[in-house]
Amino acid sequence: MQLLQLLFKKSFSMIDWKSTAIQTADIHCHIIPFVDDGAEDYEDAENLIREEYSQGVRVIVLTAHYRNGAFDTPINKVAKKYKDLKKWISTTDMSDMVLLLSREYHCDERLEALLDGYSSGQEEIVFENKRYVPKEEIVPFGKHKCILLEFSSNKMQDSEFEIFIKKASQAGLIPIVAHVERYPAVQDRPTIVYRMKKHGALVQVNCESLLSKAKTKECEIAQGLVRHKMVDLISSDCHDLENRPPKMKKCYLFLKKKYGVSTADELMRNKAISLIYGEEVGNCKELVLNVRNKA
Ligand SMILES: [Fe+2]
Repeated sequence: MQLLQLLFKKSFSMIDWKSTAIQTADIHCHIIPFVDDGAEDYEDAENLIREEYSQGVRVIVLTAHYRNGAFDTPINKVAKKYKDLKKWISTTDMSDMVLLLSREYHCDERLEALLDGYSSGQEEIVFENKRYVPKEEIVPFGKHKCILLEFSSNKMQDSEFEIFIKKASQAGLIPIVAHVERYPAVQDRPTIVYRMKKHGALVQVNCESLLSKAKTKECEIAQGLVRHKMVDLISSDCHDLENRPPKMKKCYLFLKKKYGVSTADELMRNKAISLIYGEEVGNCKELVLNVRNKA
């Protein structure tokens, strides 16, 4: 056990797993201010982070929207705001919170061009008369180089999902399909999710959908996918404290009650941690369980 602890000490040193009863990781949220329809300013962002922390979240991947013609903030400006938040959090009593930078990539023609450029190692691409550096615009997170893919809410063909999943995989990235339960195509034909996974995608579901009191299609699909073990990650996709707040704790407790603690741990922490910290896949579960059992 001592050897294991030494091996993992480096990766886990920044996380105090014993500090709260629930520890989770949120890999989908809109907390970086001024860049999308999430936090409107630094105060909003800080309040959202405080709320996540109070709910037991200890790792947050900040996934600002990136959609051609709608959310186009250059990466250097997004990164500057991310660094400001990291600097701020280091001065607070939440300094054990890990913040990582990434984006939620809308699957449009610009992303297709960027993924092609990223795959082939192109220094620069030109899309609609603008220059982009693929290695800068594509910001994967974690040792496993994950990117969150958001698809159109229009009815898409199965093949359209597969194009982006394949392109991301060919680029050496792990594609994570964001809030899979929200797409009309998935609601019509949930079996698409099998095909997504077969092509190498991981599947993410929103807390809000699972917790919905109204028996919406999103809720039905989200719960069905969890029941059939088709979901890899459950995240907040929070935008603000009023209309789309983080519901990580409520969701963790819901999963624990309905599907058991191991499902709750896996979907809201362990999978994310293994993707982020890399080679500790599998073994990190043992560590976390040991910590919890001793606490
Ligand atoms: Fe989102």
